[in-house]
Amino acid sequence: MLTIAVSKGRIYEEALPLLAEAGIVPVDDPEKCRKLILRTSRDDVHLVIIRATDVPTFVEYGAADMGIAGKDVLLEHGAESLYEPLDLKIACCKLMTAAHKDAPIHRGRIRVATKYVKTAHRYFAGKGIQAEIIKLYGSMELAPLVGLADCIVDLVDTGNTLKANDLEPRELIMNISSRLVVNKAAMKMKNQAIASLLDQLEKTLANR
Ligand code: ATP
Ligand code: PRP
Repeated sequence: MLTIAVSKGRIYEEALPLLAEAGIVPVDDPEKCRKLILRTSRDDVHLVIIRATDVPTFVEYGAADMGIAGKDVLLEHGAESLYEPLDLKIACCKLMTAAHKDAPIHRGRIRVATKYVKTAHRYFAGKGIQAEIIKLYGSMELAPLVGLADCIVDLVDTGNTLKANDLEPRELIMNISSRLVVNKAAMKMKNQAIASLLDQLEKTLANR
């Protein structure tokens, strides 16, 4: 049995066509049923539906053999404990700093609101900027508007959310896409099944 961890929403929607080409089609619809373990058209493959940020944890501990997670989440989790063999090139966006469009470029100590605390720490430390990082769980764009932070670190795709809140993108931290991650022990114990799935996905991606 192979268990693949996927988060509901954007990544699930974009992963479905990829998985389908590898012969994996969920039997249940997570939007319609409350099931967290989904059977698929392959008797030997289950999907577990969890929060995006929990995917690396499930895979690291072997509760799932594989998972699909955004590079943003993997960076923040610290993904040394996982194999990351494939860039699936889905859920693409950018991890950026952003600030109010009229805000000056801060040179001294700054306050940064983000849910990517470790990544933001690493980024500003790497630039030699003293940053106080304030952890938020969502609506980061609000922080500069209400004086909570000078800038934010968040995902940007179309830029519409920033624009709607009078913010502008400033510096690119990293281009983000979703990656296939694999538990290290599973890679050895279930090598044949995993290698064959990786091979199918790789071929599908090459034809895209
Ligand atoms: P959680 O519910 O655990 O807080 P989330 O709300 O971040 O997770 P999603 O919004 O579905 O969950 O995002 C999942 C992943 O999709 C992110 O980790 C990122 O890699 C990618 N992503 C997020 N926002 C965008 C976007 N606007 N455009 C493209 N990809 C995105
Ligand atoms: C993400 C991200 C930004 C937005 C950027 O939020 O946190 O707010 O997308 O996308 P844009 O540049 O196309 O506007 P999401 O839509 O996932 O909502 P969330 O805050 O509930 O995660």
